[in-house]
Amino acid sequence: MKDASVGINDNLSRVLILVTFAPFMNNSEFNSSKVIDESRQGSATLLDNTSEAGKRKLYLESYGCQMNFSDSEIVASVLMEQGFVTTPDPKQADVVLLNTCAIRENAELRVRQRLQDFKNEKRSRPGLIIGLLGCMAERLKTRLLQEEKLVDLVAGPDAYRDLPALISQVDSGQKAVNVLLSREETYADISPVRLGSNGVSAYISIMRGCDNMCSFCVVPFTRGRERSRDPESIVQEARELFDQGYREVTLLGQNVDSYIYAGGGLKKDILTEEQKANSTSFAALLKMVAEVSPDLRVRFSTSNPRDMTNDVLHTIAEYENICNYIHLPVQSGSTSMLDRMNRGYTREMYEERIEAIKRIIPDCAISTDIITGFCGETEEEHQETLSLMEWVGYHFAYMFKYSERPGTMAHRKFKDDVEESVKSQRLSEIVALQQKLSHKRTRTMNGQTFKVLVEGPSKKSADHLKGRNSQNAVCVFPKDNHKPGDYVYFVAEECTSATLIGRTVSDFVTV
Ligand code: SAH
Ligand code: F3S
Repeated sequence: MKDASVGINDNLSRVLILVTFAPFMNNSEFNSSKVIDESRQGSATLLDNTSEAGKRKLYLESYGCQMNFSDSEIVASVLMEQGFVTTPDPKQADVVLLNTCAIRENAELRVRQRLQDFKNEKRSRPGLIIGLLGCMAERLKTRLLQEEKLVDLVAGPDAYRDLPALISQVDSGQKAVNVLLSREETYADISPVRLGSNGVSAYISIMRGCDNMCSFCVVPFTRGRERSRDPESIVQEARELFDQGYREVTLLGQNVDSYIYAGGGLKKDILTEEQKANSTSFAALLKMVAEVSPDLRVRFSTSNPRDMTNDVLHTIAEYENICNYIHLPVQSGSTSMLDRMNRGYTREMYEERIEAIKRIIPDCAISTDIITGFCGETEEEHQETLSLMEWVGYHFAYMFKYSERPGTMAHRKFKDDVEESVKSQRLSEIVALQQKLSHKRTRTMNGQTFKVLVEGPSKKSADHLKGRNSQNAVCVFPKDNHKPGDYVYFVAEECTSATLIGRTVSDFVTV
């Protein structure tokens, strides 16, 4: 497993857990044997109709962020409408689709390696259709067809409604490509299939694209301009999920604080004062979703320091069912680096946002994303990142070595000049510090009582269940008569670095 990303604890928007380090694997990769719980990376999305005979079978594998996993649910829904069923076995499939990620070079390498696994299958069954979806498809477009000869179909993130037509085109003997990015597409009317989830938590995509143009980031190029989804359709989806027994929704967007709905279309086209006055903000959307039911937990990801308003923080504080957990990527603790990254805030501005969170939501957990070794990063700038981490005291962090992406502003303007060994050294320093901070945070929760939403069996013991508290810490306790979807009161009696272990009680108690 080679990815320069390292995460502590699992989180809403990524699927990483860390911990120990192995020596360097080759000159370009730092292989933390980090144990990314990549159990979901490359996992297949399944519908419940796998046994239906005579229908075409789809094998759909997903990589990358939660938005991609959520998109796969839309893809499955579109193809199910066309009479497809899913299969967990690519050997049984008529169509194999990989929903890809392009955020770092490793993400793309992994997909290219995975394609090799399908070579023999394609040779023995030339009728097998192989398609690439998502951000790598959008970035490389028709080049993918030239470079990866076994690929028949390429579809970008805004082209999933077109998949049935693209598949027909391949059926008729042609290669098929649709990488058009849309001004309007939010898939608002498509009800995603939810299988593969635990039946308790679900993702709801609230917007698409990103207008921020952070200089290192490929997302604005692969997912297009920012547009928000009709709030009524979001609330409707949350209501349906609640009625089906779900008890937690996570609202997804690249920058949820930037959500604004004024009738549809691109954010940049919302210009008039009247449009703005009649628009729905993220704070308003949060309220609307929180009011679906006090028993529906609301989470969201990802927040952005330059757009997160006190209104949003007050809304979180006001509603018990909006979880006290904010993922606020900082990327670097150095103002000069943040400037090169085009993040739109200084260290001081970021600190001010953290102070606002701590003031308005005192028991809020905060996590972040950090990049090490971005263009021109000096030792002093790196030290500033370490000092900021200490100052905030993050609960979790997702840490990445900078990976240059073609076409980004950083690629055009700056040199990727930090030595690989220095990037790796700095990554290991921030990981070590974060481990210390995470342990400290978990220890402070020990002894406290929390309201926990039960998610399912604990990994280690059939007699135990696991769930999460509002701060997103995993809590493990004896099963008793509890079941997934229940809320329980839980007293933490001991802890590991990221998990609280304890028992359930009838109400809040102090021990
Ligand atoms: N707003 C998004 C960010 C998507 S990318 C969200 O929903 O999380 C996730 C993280 O990947 C970023 O916060 C950044 O820390 C990291 N990242 C993005 N581009 C990168 C690159 N070129 N190299 C290394 N890490 C990168
Ligand atoms: Fe990327 Fe920055 Fe948007 S990290 S997704 S351009 S907020």
